[in-house]
Amino acid sequence: MQKKYFFLFFFLLLTAQAFSQSIIQNISSRHNLSLNGKWNYIIDPYENGFYDYRRQAFDQSETGKGGFYDDVKQTNKGSLIEYDFDHDATLDVPGDWNSQAPELKFYEGSVWYRRHFNFEPKQNKRYIIYFAAANYETHVYLNGKKLGMHKGGFTPFQFEVTGKLKNGENSIVVKVDNTRKQDEIPTINTDWWNYGGLTADVYLSELPETYIDNYKVQLAKGNLKEIEGFVQLSGNQKSQSVAINIPEAKLTYQLKTDTSGYATFKFPVKNLKYWSPESPKLYQVTLQTETDKLDDKIGFRTIETRGKDVLLNGKSVFLRGIAIHNENPLIPGRPRSEGDLRMLLNWAKELNCNYVRLAHYPHNEKMLRLADEMGLMVWAEVPVYWTISWENPATYQNAQKQLTDLIDRDKNRAAVIIWSVGNETPISQPRNKFMGDLIDKAHELDHTRLISAALELHRKDSTIYVDDVLGEKLDLVSFNEYAGWYWSTPDEISKYNWDIKYNKPVVISELGGSALAGFHADKSTRWSEEYQDNLFKNQFKLLGKIDGLRGMTPWILVDFRSPRRAHSVYQNFWNRKGLISNTGQKKLAFYTLKNYYDKISETFNQKNR
Ligand code: GCU
Repeated sequence: MQKKYFFLFFFLLLTAQAFSQSIIQNISSRHNLSLNGKWNYIIDPYENGFYDYRRQAFDQSETGKGGFYDDVKQTNKGSLIEYDFDHDATLDVPGDWNSQAPELKFYEGSVWYRRHFNFEPKQNKRYIIYFAAANYETHVYLNGKKLGMHKGGFTPFQFEVTGKLKNGENSIVVKVDNTRKQDEIPTINTDWWNYGGLTADVYLSELPETYIDNYKVQLAKGNLKEIEGFVQLSGNQKSQSVAINIPEAKLTYQLKTDTSGYATFKFPVKNLKYWSPESPKLYQVTLQTETDKLDDKIGFRTIETRGKDVLLNGKSVFLRGIAIHNENPLIPGRPRSEGDLRMLLNWAKELNCNYVRLAHYPHNEKMLRLADEMGLMVWAEVPVYWTISWENPATYQNAQKQLTDLIDRDKNRAAVIIWSVGNETPISQPRNKFMGDLIDKAHELDHTRLISAALELHRKDSTIYVDDVLGEKLDLVSFNEYAGWYWSTPDEISKYNWDIKYNKPVVISELGGSALAGFHADKSTRWSEEYQDNLFKNQFKLLGKIDGLRGMTPWILVDFRSPRRAHSVYQNFWNRKGLISNTGQKKLAFYTLKNYYDKISETFNQKNR
């Protein structure tokens, strides 16, 4: 085989490996060395650390050397080296780069990260380097050798490094490129900030030679008396006895994995305390094999629809929600700690929410674990957003991979009740095919949860029509509806009527309007708090006409940054649809929504006692 074909084959193998590698479940329960902290960095807009001057990738050259990932030192005073991590500034990991240096606020391109860590690898252990998320395309090198690459800005990925770690000082170098591209997921146009970099935790995880790689332990669909799931081992000792223990429920279940390390199970349960927002009960679940043991905290509940009803544990529920971006507005940027996440969910609780839409992409796994703990049901979604390249097979594969990784990561979180496959995607035959296939995939991956998407609607005269063909395949009718902001006026919208094609629960995925906190005027003055507040009051009248209304997530909990919002008085690159400002100030509409939810929770619960 000619050399250049060998290297192309090698590159494809690496890429395939990066895409095919399974992602360990419940990493936080493992024995991890955190690689968070300060990493030296180099901004590389011309990819000078990745390509030679003929635009040939250094890591595909004969020696595989020449890139910044060599992390070489100036030992000989005559040698030419045009980079030096040791003398470079540092970025905090986890954290987007945009919020850490003024010159990086709008930066789109590659940044190289480098850190050293001391380690003493053990003979009978396996090691993986795990990235909880990195936006968007990431290339990873350990001690100058390429581990692989990953595409996708919001889901975890990992590389096995058993046998590749040095005794002593190791060098890890990561190139992250957040350039937006038409054929990616998301595409080039989004209404959120393109935060780049190592935006979530990085771990070096130590594991037994044969370990529990994946598992699902949940109630069977619609069955409060049966737990089902699977266990998947990784390693050479694949056929093992496995015990699943739920001590507080006095439950132990024994099973045996097959020669591929896999086993499914189903067993009866009784007297479980079911998970709900009012009582978010989590059980300690222990999985033990002959070579491994881990604990998880898991809630047990069922979620289904029946006609126009959403049933949580068999009882009709109204989803009192709010939409949330994965951003701490007070120190603008991706959340850096659990405290940031608690702040966001506490604001949702203050609104008397029992439900949140984590828009428009997978949020940090810790957010889902907090929702489990705090009792908030979740709409989780992949960034199949607006004008995707519907006819590109690679784009579909990317969307499917991100959906698969999201469902795989969060399948044990009771809080997650809905997987959303997209948002406001313009109707066309290629879009219907792409989204239809993705919906089928979601149902196949997880038959225990509801599948949804923010559908398109259209208007004629004073009627709003919801007949998007995707509604046939979805469990809910969800759509974004900006009556009073993008069309009509707050005082006019209550005159409209609805024509919704499907006999399914209606859960509004977005509604709202903008207000600059502290700007007060009469209710017909755009951008005033009074305008936004009046819009919400009239929205409730309009939505009250929908007899299958079973929930909503007004857009949005708190103002968020967007390059699309340039008005220098009212926006300054902030989307002002928050009910709370980016300084934490609650607007009038915050209290109007809270009052609406207080009334709903009284009347709806009474009706369904
Ligand atoms: C759209 C979109 C949001 C966007 C919002 C807005 O519906 O889904 O991501 O921020 O409208 O225009 O503010």
